[in-house]
Amino acid sequence: MIGTMPLSEAKKNLEKKGYLAVDVDPTIDYVAEIERLKKEKNAIILAHYYQESEIQDVADYIGDSLGLAQTAAETDADIIVFAGVHFMAETAKMLNPQKKVLLPDLKAGCSLADSCPPALFRKFKEKYPDHVVVSYINCTAELKTLTDICCTSSNAEHVINSVPEDQGIIFAPDKNLGAYLKKKTGRDLVLWNGACMVHEIFSHEKITKLMMRHPDAKFIAHPECEAHILEKADFIGSTSQLLRYTHETDVQEFIVATESGIIHQMELKSPDKTFLPAPPNNTCACNDCPHMKRNTMEKLYLCMEYELPEIILEDWVIEKGVACIDRMLEISAKAGL
Ligand code: 13P
Ligand code: SF4
Repeated sequence: MIGTMPLSEAKKNLEKKGYLAVDVDPTIDYVAEIERLKKEKNAIILAHYYQESEIQDVADYIGDSLGLAQTAAETDADIIVFAGVHFMAETAKMLNPQKKVLLPDLKAGCSLADSCPPALFRKFKEKYPDHVVVSYINCTAELKTLTDICCTSSNAEHVINSVPEDQGIIFAPDKNLGAYLKKKTGRDLVLWNGACMVHEIFSHEKITKLMMRHPDAKFIAHPECEAHILEKADFIGSTSQLLRYTHETDVQEFIVATESGIIHQMELKSPDKTFLPAPPNNTCACNDCPHMKRNTMEKLYLCMEYELPEIILEDWVIEKGVACIDRMLEISAKAGL
């Protein structure tokens, strides 16, 4: 039983909704319960910087996509609880096929991963039979089976530069990160036409006005943003690189063009500095990733208590798909990342 509901009924809900949708005692202390469950089950919580701040605060490790994959590859916990999105939890499962990997809400997807359906990509790839495929880690496990080397925004330049210069490269699925990498590496990448819904929403006009009102602020941006936004940036980097930059540079004010969850860590690391979310082109004026923000403390607690929902992948997907992640981890280790 979960509360007043039999577990079998809750499991039916789970299939429809993506999470255990049940009534929870409103007086429950989620932090205390989650800490108890971590110890009892030898579970580790890995959280991305875009998670809500309460989840970041209860996590054992908070990081960018590379740090999360590296930590997942090394953990000796029995259960990995992934406070992030589906492709991140899949990556952790591919690196740990024997372990239980939980995701609080299976519908926490990713518009970038969705923008590259494996069946269409397979046809696209056939047009370039001599090319190697480098895929941003923000793609499905099945897409990873069609990929030679994975990358994240922290190591993408190193990964591209690890490929011999005369070798053609397909880059999927993010056309914005791809265009940025073309510029940075001088390589002629064949790009898949995908994009992140959160990073494509920033308003050039509103950012320009905000910069005029805050002339001393540095404008920093994630490379998933469009080229016309990146052109304005004083610094471009992955979430961990943006975080490091704000902490280490001697500047007091920043306009931040990425998902707003990262601002929690920026404020914790540099409490005296000011962080302004870059304004998007939408009426609610928020830069939240609706997928990342599907996870809540309640769902996190329930998934740890009942060990559901769990990431399940077919054996062939794990066996074939993990090679491109291993290759990425090797290149990153060599580069000291
Ligand atoms: P990083 O944290 O690796 O920079 O990735 C950002 C992102 O969009 C994750 O979904
Ligand atoms: Fe995907 Fe963009 Fe959300 Fe990251 S921020 S999970 S890339 S939709």
